[in-house]
Amino acid sequence: MKIISNIQDLRDQLRGQNRAAFVPTMGNLHEGHLSLMRLARQHGDPVIASIFVNRLQFGPNEDFDKYPRTFEADVEKLEKEGVYVLFAPTEKDLYPEPQEYRVDPPSNLGNILEGEFRPGFFKGVCTVVLKLLACVQPKVAVFGKKDYQQLMVIRQMCHQLALPVDVIPAETIRAEDGLALSSRNGYLSQDERAEAVQLIQTLKEVQEKILEGNLSPEAILAIEQAACEKLAERGWAPDYISVRKRKDLLSANNADIASAEKLVVLAAAKLGKTRLIDNLEI
Ligand code: PAF
Repeated sequence: MKIISNIQDLRDQLRGQNRAAFVPTMGNLHEGHLSLMRLARQHGDPVIASIFVNRLQFGPNEDFDKYPRTFEADVEKLEKEGVYVLFAPTEKDLYPEPQEYRVDPPSNLGNILEGEFRPGFFKGVCTVVLKLLACVQPKVAVFGKKDYQQLMVIRQMCHQLALPVDVIPAETIRAEDGLALSSRNGYLSQDERAEAVQLIQTLKEVQEKILEGNLSPEAILAIEQAACEKLAERGWAPDYISVRKRKDLLSANNADIASAEKLVVLAAAKLGKTRLIDNLEI
């Protein structure tokens, strides 16, 4: 595997490759990321990965400095997956001058859910993803459904800006007890790790109640509130547990419910100092 940090060197290395499959990451790789590499291989060749902890998507009180950086272990894992090039730019490589041009997603998608609790997050994500796509110029790019809203925001960006790249969604990989794999799980104490499974358990309970039917927007709200209260009683600090339409992540009205719009339930909650997110398609 070639490790490249400079944009021009990357372009030289990838010249003539028109079927590349790209997986952008922030490193600290786990099985979830590796499953993205395997899916990428099914959709293109060669597989290109990137590792870049993108300052633009972290808020002032978030964990940019303490975000886990495990470069050597990551390199070993990517080599085993047969990744052809790892693009690992420094901040100077990717942002040699202040990044003044940025991509601002529309507020009806970018400022809800994660965007409401992490202002500027999707602007930072879109800006770096667009820049990485411009550097790698892949045929396809793979993003995990664990970050459900991120996947939608990026897919819409690629569509609206007519980028010549197919966005491929990848299923969430879970630990045996159901906890979605995430780099942030590493922050959990042993007790918190045992408790963390309650997030997906709660989403499953919401899913069951929704599937029982006879719903109205008010009934959905009551289910969401009960789910938040349950987590709060167990010591969590929930930001949201919200049932949304899969197609636009807006709440379902009576007409949507009558026409059996496909739904997804999304959650974000803090356990101790660690903020976890997850979702379940209904
Ligand atoms: O999901 C992530 O790891 C990041 O948000 C991404 C897509 C690599 C952009 O920095």
